This record gives sequence, C-alpha cells and structure tokens, in this order.
Amino acid sequence: MDWRTPLGWHIAKHYVTTPIREGRVTVAGTYGGTKPNPLPPGTADFYSDGKSIPPREMREAALDAPLGDEQKGEDPTTTKLLERTAELLGKEDALFLPAATMANEIAIAVLCRPGDEIICERSSHIVNFEAGGPGVLAGVQTHMVDGENGMFGPEQVSAALRPKGNLYLPETALVSVEQTANMGGGAIWPLQQMRDVVNVAAEAGIATHLDGARLMNAVVKTGISAKEYSEGFDAVTICFSKGLGSPFGAALAGSEEFIQRAWRLRQLIGGGLRQSGFMGALCLYALDHYVDRLADDHERATQIASFLEGLELVDTVLPADTNIVIFTISPQGPTAAQVVAEMLSRGFAIGAFGERRIRIVTHLEVDQDDTDRLCGELGNLLTSH
Ligand SMILES: Cc1ncc(COP(=O)(O)O)c(C=O)c1O
Repeated sequence: MDWRTPLGWHIAKHYVTTPIREGRVTVAGTYGGTKPNPLPPGTADFYSDGKSIPPREMREAALDAPLGDEQKGEDPTTTKLLERTAELLGKEDALFLPAATMANEIAIAVLCRPGDEIICERSSHIVNFEAGGPGVLAGVQTHMVDGENGMFGPEQVSAALRPKGNLYLPETALVSVEQTANMGGGAIWPLQQMRDVVNVAAEAGIATHLDGARLMNAVVKTGISAKEYSEGFDAVTICFSKGLGSPFGAALAGSEEFIQRAWRLRQLIGGGLRQSGFMGALCLYALDHYVDRLADDHERATQIASFLEGLELVDTVLPADTNIVIFTISPQGPTAAQVVAEMLSRGFAIGAFGERRIRIVTHLEVDQDDTDRLCGELGNLLTSH
C-alpha cells in the first residue's frame, strides 16, 4: 500500500477493481431468477415505482424549460425546483442530484466522520441496496436495529447509542429513518414516533437523516405535510423518480451550511450537473401533476393486499399503508422465484425479495385493469387446485 495517498482511496480502489465474487451476480429482487431484458412488450410492470416511463406531456414539459449551467448556479429551472423543494421540506436550501442513493450517501458522508456509526433499521435502503456505500464512501459502519416493518422506536435508539468518551468504541454520529419504509411494505412512520426518535438523537447530540424517497406517499395518505415530517432532521432526501414518475432526479435538503458541504462532495464524486433544468422540469412536472394521484396507487395496493390475505398459499401480508405490498408464500406453495417467473409468463413483472417473499409496487403506469388482472393471476397461482 502506498501510504502517501489517503486510506479511503485505497479502499475505494480495491472495491472497484476486485472482481465480483462468483455466485453473487444477482440483482435485488431477482432472487434465484433471471428475467428477459427488455421485458416483453405489454408486460404490466409492478416490480417498482421507479419503472414508470414518462408520458408525453411530462417529456414536453422539458422542451422549453429555461436552462443554464447549474454548477455556476445559472440554471433557472433547477433553481426553481430547489427553492420549491426546500420550501416543501421546510429547509434553508436543497441540492439537485441524479438519484436518491446519491442523496443518502452524500448526507451520510457530510454528517459523519470515518469510524463513526449510523443507527438505522436492518431492512433500510442504505444497508441493503446502496452497494455498501456508507462503508466505502463515508468510512462508517451501520448499527442496525430490528424494527417493526422498517420502523423503530426512541428506546431502540437510546439502547443503540454508544457511550461517549470510550476510546475503544465507534462514535454514534447519525440516526437514519426511512419514510415510507420500503421493505417494511411502504409503512408510514407515525409522526410522533419520528419526532421521538429525532428528540432522542438531538439530546445525545447526534445528527438525523430522513430518507424520504417516498415521503410524498406518506403525505398524501395521512394529510401530514412534508414539512412536518421533515422537522428536526438535519438532512432530508426526496426522490422524484419513484411514485412521482420522473425519469431522473432526487434532492437533498438541509441548512445552508449542510448543502454547501454536500455540494462540494457532489463535485468530488463527479456528480456536478450542467443544464440540469432539462431534468428539473420533469421533476417540477411531477410535483405539479403526480402528487395527488398517489392516492390511486395506495388504493390499488390496498386492493392487492386484501386479495392476497384471502389466498390459501399466502402466509403473511404486511399492512399496505401506501403503494407497496410485501407478502410471504406459505411453505406448501411455490418459491418466490417460481411465482415471479410464472407471473412474467402471464404478463406481469413482480419482484422476489427472499426465498418466499414477494414485493409488488403500484405506480403511475399500472392502472385499475392491470391491478384486477394481476389479482386474478395471483389467485390462480396461489390457490391449490
Ligand atoms: C427508501 C429508498 N431510498 C432510496 C432509494 C434509492 O433511490 P434511487 O433509485 O433514486 O437511487 C430507494 C429506491 O428504491 C428507496 O426505496
């Protein structure tokens, strides 16, 4: 090792140059299964709300958007989007980013030092689907707590806090909360529970991050504003490419100082943008047109979840608070990979997230007819004949 360059660089270099270990090349949600690429035309894609294809009207919104160099603060459309986002989340400032993963990772790197620890839930996105980013990019480790449907309580935070002043222990630097909790079945954290967690962190002098990739789903379902949910958090991620239907874009919001540091980190990893108003216009379109309609997605998810509850070969169905349905198949039934493959042959994409666990997500591009037909096929497959 060349000790003249920082350790982090060696780790990152090792990470990207080491061959992927044999047998590990599966993509999240394709447990044991392969899928055609692209999906057969006409497939109703319930795999993720990140899969919607932007409709023509959304694309047209980008054509005439005023543009400039975002790195110099000269892109009026991005500025408009960020002012609106900061206002929505009740923060001083915001930063435009390609994806929510980058927003989460930058938040962690800004709010922690190498060797620190983040308290988060075991099923959270930062732990499971960000390719080990917190370890690689920020040099931190996760202190995972086992919550209920992705949510944990203030007493769990208190118990996970590292005592201060002990030279052996990592220092707790951050608590991260996911609203809605993706792998908890799109579960909505009750506002008071979030506040209690934030308060415990504040008392301990620890920063807080809200991964609100699907925050607007919670807002539409409960009527509680995004600002109320974001109150007290040092950093908030919001994503425009989930239920809101944009093909690109997330934002990170926080204090002016936090955003300046985040800006610098984004630059460091080559995430600086140029005429990003072209994409920003798509996100603004999403905020103008696709927030209220999230209620339709929620209704369809509820329909699917109640239908599944009545099926013989279904073991458990998580409460479908928003647009995500997660259920497990009973040991007498087929495996998740078999169900995914069979459903695909019948024209439906869904995801296997474990041996017997399946995730179904409703969004802009799957309508009522798709939902009714999906239920019909699941009924055929998950009933013993
Ligand atoms: C809770 C949560 N956070 C972050 C992300 C990352 O989003 P992106 O695909 O924009 O990186 C996702 C993606 O599904 C998510 O579910």
